[in-house]
Amino acid sequence: MPNNILISPSILSADFADLGAEVRAIDAAGADMIHIDVMDGHYVPNLTIGPMVVKALKPHTEKPFDVHLMIAPADPLIQAFIDAGADYVSVHPDAGPHLHRTLQAIKAGGAKAGLVLNPGTHPDVVDPVIDELDLILVMSVNPGFGGQSFISSQLDKIKILADKIKASGRDIILEVDGGVNPVTSQQCIAAGATALVAGSAVFKGTGSYSENIAALRHQSMATSKVA
Ligand code: DX5
Ligand code: ZN
Repeated sequence: MPNNILISPSILSADFADLGAEVRAIDAAGADMIHIDVMDGHYVPNLTIGPMVVKALKPHTEKPFDVHLMIAPADPLIQAFIDAGADYVSVHPDAGPHLHRTLQAIKAGGAKAGLVLNPGTHPDVVDPVIDELDLILVMSVNPGFGGQSFISSQLDKIKILADKIKASGRDIILEVDGGVNPVTSQQCIAAGATALVAGSAVFKGTGSYSENIAALRHQSMATSKVA
């Protein structure tokens, strides 16, 4: 079991009036990546962050920007997000007509490519494109909003995808997004996740940002001591 779980706090739950300070704070608190939820009011019923905000945040941290595009079509805006500072760009398979071409465009543009699976998306969607992927993002809520409850049926999908990644022999991050808290994080890690997105649990949790991030990793550290 991996002992270096990556934590990618979602700034969707941060103070939007003070995003630069929030990004600096989660960086100092031990975040490994910064998860940026981009919503277009069309693919999902919410409207959030565009490339201009991503560019404005870039000087506030050296941690990779993990940009989750919930927009359709995605293709016309991919390069703008990469130019703004996206290190990982993840797209939903139904956000455009030619998924393979979209993933190639992300890599040609200079970023790492991710594919996002909604709770209703079959894990086999990764099969034809796994050679193009640097990251697979399993949604454990339906996309659009922070603060929703973890959908436990996605744990089996995480296991299936962990096996597919292992069989591919490729170095692909397996990230889970939605309803991740100190309890569900351990279920995700046990199922094979190697990265966790958390909005509410980091920004609205009971402790400091540092304590909240540590709580998401806690069991993985204990497990690594046993192993
Ligand atoms: C939902 C977003 C998530 C969300 C997670 O569409 O993709 O990243 O911010 O928020 P929590 O951790 O509160 O479920
Ligand atoms: Zn997200």
